[in-house]
Amino acid sequence: MTAHASEATPALQMADIRKVYRMGDNEVVALDHASLTVGADEIVALVGPSGSGKTTLCSIAGGILSATSGTVTVGTEEISGYGDKELTTFRQNQVGFVFQSVNLVPFLNARENLLVVDELGRREGKPARDRADRLLDELGLADRAKNLPSQLSGGQKQRVAIGRALMNEPRLVLFDEPTSALDTELGGQVMELIQSEMKARGTAAIVVTHDERITEYCDRTVRITDGVLAA
Ligand SMILES: Nc1ncnc2c1ncn2[C@@H]1O[C@H](COP(=O)(O)OP(=O)(O)OP(=O)(O)O)[C@@H](O)[C@H]1O
Ligand SMILES: [Mg+2]
Repeated sequence: MTAHASEATPALQMADIRKVYRMGDNEVVALDHASLTVGADEIVALVGPSGSGKTTLCSIAGGILSATSGTVTVGTEEISGYGDKELTTFRQNQVGFVFQSVNLVPFLNARENLLVVDELGRREGKPARDRADRLLDELGLADRAKNLPSQLSGGQKQRVAIGRALMNEPRLVLFDEPTSALDTELGGQVMELIQSEMKARGTAAIVVTHDERITEYCDRTVRITDGVLAA
């Protein structure tokens, strides 16, 4: 394999991130001195109890939420100083999200749910349709392209969500408890799929989970307790 420069650039560098939520007079420190580097094609499991800051960390890494202080760099882009418009463009081009509760658009079929990403990025047309169909095929959903989410099983919906997250060829995919709604066997299958899709593309990922078995599909496990990271 030939190494090129981009392979050496980490997918994500979070340095000394602090996140404070303010609610009236109350302050919650959700992340404190959090530093994390994810390699270009590394899959990192993020494990910690409820309320420890996992979703907050993913939201900051993906430019959904701004940190109170610290810097976030995705690939070569430092996003910490970005305004709303720059963040929107950044999210469309650089990151994919897969959440626990699959947020498929209910009135769009499987293929259209993939294409919606492309329309946001305005690269419509046949290449996008071909790409959506290739992804659906890889995910074992070729014969479900025209099914609405309500006509798909839980595991199939989660696979459509994975396809959608990969549509824009992101540098980093953030999976927030992608298997928690699935039984153990299906969860294992979805993780195998995530692992093979990420490795085939050289795409980095953070996988949030409570389930130690899920960490076996990841290259490295990072633990978080009360907003503080530990390897
Ligand atoms: N929008 C918000 N406003 C105020 N506090 C918040 C907000 N979002 C999260 N928090 C608080 O920040 C802390 C971290 O929340 P976060 O959602 O990141 O945890 P988590 O590790 O993802 O938990 P879970 O495993 O339950 O999903 C919690 O104490 C939570 O109550
Ligand atoms: Mg969470």
